[in-house]
Amino acid sequence: MTSHTMSVADAIRARRTVRHYLPDPVPEAALDALLGLAVEAPTSWNLQDRSIVVVSADEGRAGLAWATGGQPQPQEAPVVLVFVAETQSWRDDHSDVYEQARSGGAWNEEFIAMFSAASQAFQEDLDQRGLLREYAVKDAMIAASFVMLAATEMGLATSPMNGWDEAKVKKVIGIGDRDDLAIALLVSVGYPAEERRHPGRRARDRVVHRESYGARAAENAR
Ligand SMILES: Cc1cc2nc3c(=O)[nH]c(=O)nc-3n(C[C@H](O)[C@H](O)[C@H](O)COP(=O)(O)O)c2cc1C
Repeated sequence: MTSHTMSVADAIRARRTVRHYLPDPVPEAALDALLGLAVEAPTSWNLQDRSIVVVSADEGRAGLAWATGGQPQPQEAPVVLVFVAETQSWRDDHSDVYEQARSGGAWNEEFIAMFSAASQAFQEDLDQRGLLREYAVKDAMIAASFVMLAATEMGLATSPMNGWDEAKVKKVIGIGDRDDLAIALLVSVGYPAEERRHPGRRARDRVVHRESYGARAAENAR
């Protein structure tokens, strides 16, 4: 594993989408560290309504290559992480989380009672509006972002992937029959076999607005 010397800002700047990988495996300790950082990502109401399926066996990666219509990443990268959005897991018992918050002194009893009730009401409202999937996907995407940055710091390359057939991905990871689970993103992880240049970003004043959409940062700074 590369020594950890990169700042978050450096990792953000250095990360590139890498599509070709060396066959070298990702050391188990590095993968473990990466997954530990992934689950540090915040989630709405701390519901932690996303899971990560680590696919590293040949069969699973071949399945994901099929599910992605032959993208090179699952064929070449030693690991593909599948970020699963759990649209219904807010209904589960969360006392394991509340117990940690209680014993760590993060939340007191009163707060836990309020938070628990408010989060359920919030989710019920999402359910009514058909937004459960969207909100679980948001949480999964933040975890995926954390993974991409943490991997960069470890000298590992990544590629986010949207290009897949959801039913096929679900089948490959053994949830073909689960309507309550959705696929948010695939992220390949491995050592790069190519150097990618920065493909460019639009000018800051085209994408950053102050106070209202369309109000350019530069105009407001005057
Ligand atoms: C949500 C998301 C899905 C993406 N899906 C794919 C994909 O399926 N295949 C692929 O080769 N690149 C995919 N990309 C990579 C983008 O093409 C890449 O991020 C973009 O060109 C900017 O390059 P950079 O990541 O090196 O800054 C995806 C990126 C994002 C954020």
